[in-house]
Amino acid sequence: MTMCGPFTIEGFGSYVPKRVLTNADLETMVETSDEWITTRTGIKERRIAAVGEASSDMALAATREALAKACRSASDLTHVYFATFTPDAFCPNAACVLEDKLGLKGLACVDLNAACSGFLYGLEAAMGAVALRPEAVVLVTASDVVTSRTNWADRSTCVLFGDGAGAAILSGREPEPGQAVVEDIVLKSDGSVWPVLTAKSAGSAFPLKLGDVVGEDFFIQMNGPEVYKNAVRAMGSVCEEILKKNNMSVGDVDLFIPHQANLRIMEAVGKRLHIAPEKTVVTVDRYGNTSASSIVIALADARSKGRIRPGTRVLFTVFGAGFTWGAALIKFV
Ligand code: ACO
Repeated sequence: MTMCGPFTIEGFGSYVPKRVLTNADLETMVETSDEWITTRTGIKERRIAAVGEASSDMALAATREALAKACRSASDLTHVYFATFTPDAFCPNAACVLEDKLGLKGLACVDLNAACSGFLYGLEAAMGAVALRPEAVVLVTASDVVTSRTNWADRSTCVLFGDGAGAAILSGREPEPGQAVVEDIVLKSDGSVWPVLTAKSAGSAFPLKLGDVVGEDFFIQMNGPEVYKNAVRAMGSVCEEILKKNNMSVGDVDLFIPHQANLRIMEAVGKRLHIAPEKTVVTVDRYGNTSASSIVIALADARSKGRIRPGTRVLFTVFGAGFTWGAALIKFV
């Protein structure tokens, strides 16, 4: 490994909206059943943002928890890297809106869009900032109101998603007990298959003009089986790559946190890697696929259940539109 460092995750936090949408609720909205959703995806319920609740609002709640866990105040932050494919607005970026909601000015603020893989892309960008500027204290947040791009008339997609946010504070400080160091990250993409998973409309290649009504291509559209196949293959191989690169085996991993898209995808990746099922953190049953925040929400869930102790090593893997994918290793001190 050729990284300098340390790259210390001083604290992290998560947020999900209060409103619960169950499979029984969905049965009243589209032709589906709890049995179909549960057996195909493992999802029982998901959270839905309140009317007017934007990605920056959810990120703000996750950020407050991350700052509190890091014993930091917002004024310590130097950068905001905001992973989202559902920013509050197309312009300005959600990072600037969040900066304002934190009562700050003068930071470096930017959004990153790598869909469901966004948190790890944000984390690597934050490591770059820390490597360049050792005094940097970077907020990496991932937040998506996925349901703002959910077509509630399309039963093949609307049952899969939920809203949520995660946040972490990264710096170059030596880690203290309870904090974690980033050991490595590997990021990948393959743009040749981008049409397989999209939310196109209102993009510059799919412009709207005054008075247009949004069509189905405004919402998430995907070829489910293609996504499924590629997600299993890509997450499996990138995990093998990062472990090999770091001279580790699955025996060195205490917790496995894959992107929470679908329980069957997670189980298939775990099986390919021969990871003991009890090491896998599962939140998809309660929150559905919350996009880029899902791995942070799962990490916070593991903490709340006492599954993180000194020395705990976590293997993350993500997969999303693009396709984008990646893996990361972090170790708690
Ligand atoms: N309720 C009932 N029936 C449904 C539903 C539903 N909600 N949705 C689709 N169906 C029907 C289809 O119409 C189809 O019927 P048909 O055969 O008569 O045409 C049938 O169910 C398809 O069933 P299966 O082939 O068994 O479905 P599959 O096992 O492929 O599961 C799923 C579909 C869950 C979408 C799966 O392909 C999948 O999980 N793909 C990955 C998608 C994903 O996770 N995307 C998240 C975004 S990307 C990311 O975050 C990685």
